[in-house]
Amino acid sequence: MEEFTEEKKAACVITLKPKGPISILGDFIIIDEEGNELPKREKISICRCGMSDKMPVCDGTHKGLCF
Ligand code: FES
Repeated sequence: MEEFTEEKKAACVITLKPKGPISILGDFIIIDEEGNELPKREKISICRCGMSDKMPVCDGTHKGLCF
């Protein structure tokens, strides 16, 4: 995975992983469907297969799925 650097001049980098999650790296906040802010962190992978047991965070379940 490419590292986030100051030279990129962006607050965060969002990467769509092939057949996997949406990776977010940098300075960001995430608000859940009920309007609550998730704990602040520098990096997160958001599930987009819908099968994670830790929604909205990817737990790796997508790796066993056939796309
Ligand atoms: S994308 Fe990884 S569990 Fe859904």
